[in-house]
Amino acid sequence: MELYGLEKNRLPTHVAIIMDGNGRWARLRGKSRIEGHREGTASVRTTVELSRNLGIRYLSLYAFSSENWNRPHDEVEGLMGLLENYLEVEQERMMREGVRLVAIGDRKRLPASVRRVLDRNISLTRNNTALTVILALSYSGRGDIVKTVRDIARKVKAGQCELADIDESMIAANTETGPIPDPDLLIRTSGEMRISNFFLWQIPYTELYITPTLWPDFSEQQYIKALLEFQRRKRRFGKTDEQLLQG
Ligand code: FPP
Repeated sequence: MELYGLEKNRLPTHVAIIMDGNGRWARLRGKSRIEGHREGTASVRTTVELSRNLGIRYLSLYAFSSENWNRPHDEVEGLMGLLENYLEVEQERMMREGVRLVAIGDRKRLPASVRRVLDRNISLTRNNTALTVILALSYSGRGDIVKTVRDIARKVKAGQCELADIDESMIAANTETGPIPDPDLLIRTSGEMRISNFFLWQIPYTELYITPTLWPDFSEQQYIKALLEFQRRKRRFGKTDEQLLQG
């Protein structure tokens, strides 16, 4: 298996991506925004494929935020159409390549046709083990935290746990990502230096990689460049260099 100069045993377990810049990519070419999103779908395929082939275990994609519902109706409809089509077309390949699909976010708000194919793919791929793709749809980091607080409060109220039982691991387990480990690497395309309400609880020690490349131009080479940069980072998790040397 081609590793492109990457160290196999130091790959991130979980990569999360804020896929930004589809609109700018389209504008630069005099195309409609939806054409930018369509081209962005090709980058999704490339990224899933390479993650799977490298042996990365989890890939989270911020495909549609809770705030994205406020975009023009045509754009929202176009994005939902692209999503539905992607899920239809990729089903077979996901099964062939052992890719498991998971969705996070407020699925109830999605159109019924998207929900149908999404639920089918999730159920069909649930026993696949090579790569888990986490699609964030109608998701927001704060929304996730609000839902988590409500769920835990409900358990306390029902007498299923005590206030004193609430700790970081209980909160983590109750977020939408549940047992999935926190991302090791968060990539954002198009150069914006912000999190835009994507994962909040999940990223205390996540390495951030921001590239000016627009999402439709995010190629296999660009992804490898991000992974190489990740492998050059020294992750200290709050410790000193000396402590790290002592193991
Ligand atoms: C941000 O670019 C991108 C989105 C809001 C949608 C991302 C969707 C896709 C990549 C395609 C469909 C997804 C899947 C999983 C098949 P932007 O529109 O904010 O770009 P701009 O900031 O340049 O306007």
